[in-house]
Amino acid sequence: MALIDIQVPDIGDFDEVTVIEILVKPGDTVKADQSLLTVESDKASMEIPSSHGGVVKELRVKLDDKVKQGSIVLVLEAEADAPVPAAEAAAAPAVSAPAAPVAQAAAVAAPVAVASAPVAPVAAATPAQAVPAHEPTAVTGQLPHASPSVRKFAREIGVPLAEVKGSGPKGRITQDDVQGFAKSVMAGDVRTQAQAVKAPAGSGGDGAALGLLPWPKVDFAKFGPVERKEMSRIKKISGANLLRNAIMIPAVTNHDDADITDLEAFRVSTNKENEKSGVKVTMLAFLIKAIVATLKKYPEFNSSLDGDAIVYKNYWHIGFAADTPNGLMVPVIRDADQKGVLQLSQEMGELAKKARDGKLSSAEMTGATFTISSLGGIGGKYFLPIINAPEVAIMGVSKSTMEPVWDGKQFVPRLMLPLSLTYDHRVIDGAAAARFNVYLSQILGDFRRVLL
Ligand code: COA
Repeated sequence: MALIDIQVPDIGDFDEVTVIEILVKPGDTVKADQSLLTVESDKASMEIPSSHGGVVKELRVKLDDKVKQGSIVLVLEAEADAPVPAAEAAAAPAVSAPAAPVAQAAAVAAPVAVASAPVAPVAAATPAQAVPAHEPTAVTGQLPHASPSVRKFAREIGVPLAEVKGSGPKGRITQDDVQGFAKSVMAGDVRTQAQAVKAPAGSGGDGAALGLLPWPKVDFAKFGPVERKEMSRIKKISGANLLRNAIMIPAVTNHDDADITDLEAFRVSTNKENEKSGVKVTMLAFLIKAIVATLKKYPEFNSSLDGDAIVYKNYWHIGFAADTPNGLMVPVIRDADQKGVLQLSQEMGELAKKARDGKLSSAEMTGATFTISSLGGIGGKYFLPIINAPEVAIMGVSKSTMEPVWDGKQFVPRLMLPLSLTYDHRVIDGAAAARFNVYLSQILGDFRRVLL
């Protein structure tokens, strides 16, 4: 058995480096290329691998020692006939072998520099993750300060290093810090940024992955009595969808007013005529009809984005937002272009009831090509609806009010319906949105225009 002095190999431009981690102890059996210690300069940390397999006899360094190329770090009792690893062959010429007690003592191998490598992406995590998978958090532009072995350990258990607070010198992240972080995530005390982003709007930590400030954490009870209630499942699901749609769609809203004075008179008389049928027609049914006609004239509003392509749909399924005790739901009226106002009213009534009773099937909530959100039965004037992706536009309708409108000679009282059209600006230009609202208002002002 030969005793070999393991030395610091060529470490490139660095003159002196500090030992920040010792990965073996006397008595340990190591393999060739196994990391023995981690050294660090002010720019990089790197691992010093063993050039031979064998048993560690004696450590010649301790933490915080300064070492340089040629410094002996430990004495190894080499395995008999231990092969010289390929790394040594490559690195050895760059190292001036110091006087060595045994023949093959120039025990050097290429160090593994890692400081410039970003945090490993999620794909590098092993299946044995202890905490949920995460995305790399390079958004802060700062690399976490940790040795390669700690990075590897963090990768293996799926800990996002950028989120771990280091307790070592200069804030360096130690293995204990990584373990502590994993334990807090498992215990629910801490959430990774990926978890925070997936969470519904308003909850703690939202937006951290976007580089935003963390959500304010306030003990409301300090200011007065409070009551805490879990959100309904529907609210959680719709919240996550709304957040995605609000963030990912470059949306613009165009407001307009439609004169529905004559249409309202027609609606009232229609309801009188159909009193016995039990079907009540609201403005929303007329709106669906008018919107379908407008979508046919401006087909990009009835489309979806698919990568770099726009998919135009030759069917007109209209979703309408329904307020339910459990939260917002969007039932869909299929083939609205083929149905009359009475049938639309009847279907809307049935679907709204099902939504309120929590009995909508998923088929009744999917496939919409355009959505209407009407707050007309409640009140308010204009609002900014959020597009229901993958649709590209949504119409928000507010309560109609009687207003003085100038007819060229005088002000006359007209019933005006506020319209708020939100559109995806990637697909739709502002001019098209203005034309859409103008045309829709013309139809609502005089339905005979549909025949033109
Ligand atoms: N202007 C003035 N009055 C209006 C109106 C409008 N734009 N729209 C409806 N009304 C009137 C109706 O005529 C009805 O009056 P009446 O009781 O005198 O007959 C009353 O408001 C209530 O209408 P409503 O029952 O709400 O029917 P609707 O067909 O207009 O709407 C739903 C049906 C399901 C869409 C509606 O009940 C609902 O849930 N709206 C909330 C949608 C929502 O939450 N959107 C926001 C999403 S962010």
